[in-house]
Amino acid sequence: MTMRGPGFLVVAAAAALAGGAAFAQIPLFNVVTGEPLDLSFALEEGRDTEAVTTFLQTGVNIYNEKADVLPSGEELYLTACSGCHGHLAEGKIGPGLNDDYWTYQGNDTDAGLFRTIYGGAQGQMGPQYGHLTLDEMLRVMSWIRHVYTGAPETATWLTAEQRAAFAPYVPPPHAEDPDGGPD
Ligand code: HEC
Repeated sequence: MTMRGPGFLVVAAAAALAGGAAFAQIPLFNVVTGEPLDLSFALEEGRDTEAVTTFLQTGVNIYNEKADVLPSGEELYLTACSGCHGHLAEGKIGPGLNDDYWTYQGNDTDAGLFRTIYGGAQGQMGPQYGHLTLDEMLRVMSWIRHVYTGAPETATWLTAEQRAAFAPYVPPPHAEDPDGGPD
């Protein structure tokens, strides 16, 4: 292979999930071991949506702040993550995901958040590639970003326009408290 220009990268991205070991164009590695993440472990479904293709090439999650995507992101989050990370991502067995403190550097980028979710971290944070499709991971990520309680200017994963409109998440008043009401 002598030509490794941008054209090659785009072709490689399109072919990335076709078979064999598959690696993205954005830096995706296991946050604990540093090994590159092999995307061929991903579930068959949801590999080739526009969001996944865009994300693997650019690291941009086009689902962020998309009103028609957030409900599915919330549902997936409540099924797959809230038991350990809390109803509002405030933290429980696992750390809070709704503030600007991160154990793993880079989780303030969507590539970083994805690699922690796809490849897992330590202890009970196992890899999620067997539970969620790649497209579902991007949906969950959009929900996690939506419930962010930090200052809008620290929401660096948003576009400048989205950031200007972003307000820290306030749960709706009718949200049921899973612990049985206020204490
Ligand atoms: C069985 C419990 C469990 C489940 C389910 C779980 N996690 Fe975790 N998660 C943890 C624990 C424990 C850690 C801390 C691991 C570490 O520090 O290495 C963690 C860490 C993380 C981190 C790193 C946070 C940081 O500060 O850098 C992210 C991001 C994360 N989880 C996202 C998710 C998402 C999204 C889901 C659902 C798809 C999920 N987790 C499901 C237990 C869980």
